[in-house]
Amino acid sequence: MLNLILFGPPGSGKGTQAEKLIDKYNLKHISTGDLLRAEVAAQTELGVKAKAIMDKGELVSDEIVIGMIENKLKEGKLEEGYIFDGFPRTVDQARALRNLLTDHGMEINLVVALQVDKEELIKRLLKRGEESGRTDDNLETITNRINVYENQTKPVTRYYGKRKLYQPIDGVGTIEEIFLRILAEIEKVEH
Ligand code: AP5
Repeated sequence: MLNLILFGPPGSGKGTQAEKLIDKYNLKHISTGDLLRAEVAAQTELGVKAKAIMDKGELVSDEIVIGMIENKLKEGKLEEGYIFDGFPRTVDQARALRNLLTDHGMEINLVVALQVDKEELIKRLLKRGEESGRTDDNLETITNRINVYENQTKPVTRYYGKRKLYQPIDGVGTIEEIFLRILAEIEKVEH
């Protein structure tokens, strides 16, 4: 079983690479961003609260996102592996994930951290903003999302570094080139 975290700043390609990895390894994809956007679209109470936070580029509370992950893990078949995309984003989330996986007899095998410079991140997200209508893909919110990543999410790299799970990967290049770089790292932990 393979349990993988796709880690990296906004626009680094986590979602894009997750799609390709799911096809290849038949993993279950858990993206907290997608789960939150589904709540927003359904106009649930949680969604209404989350939208205001997401539109500013801030983090939704640990309690909410950890609860969502807990529910998803309960739904899943235990023999499946998972790709966590956009989670964990704080050290408390990382600790909670560890405990939840342990409860299910699982563990994280690899944290793939996509490295992309700030200029390229902004370019990608502004381009997507023109096409997708994602309300957080505007310059002000993108800038704050990157700052939030630097200040609140980057400490997670140390958490996984200490556990020898953290693997930085060059996230600039074609989508296929980056995919091959990720596959090479997965091969190492699988064998
Ligand atoms: P989330 O949905 O997780 O957004 P994000 O981290 O900002 O990530 P993105 O989806 O913007 O980028 P990505 O790295 O997935 O890149 P993608 O493949 O899409 O979170 C949104 C919000 O929800 C957060 O701000 C927060 O408020 C809340 N939230 C979510 N999770 C949370 C958590 N755990 N705790 C608290 N709050 C949470 O690619 C981006 C673009 O680049 C695409 O257009 C793509 O086509 C393009 N692209 C991809 N690869 C390449 C390439 N190699 N070359 C050129 N373009 C590329």
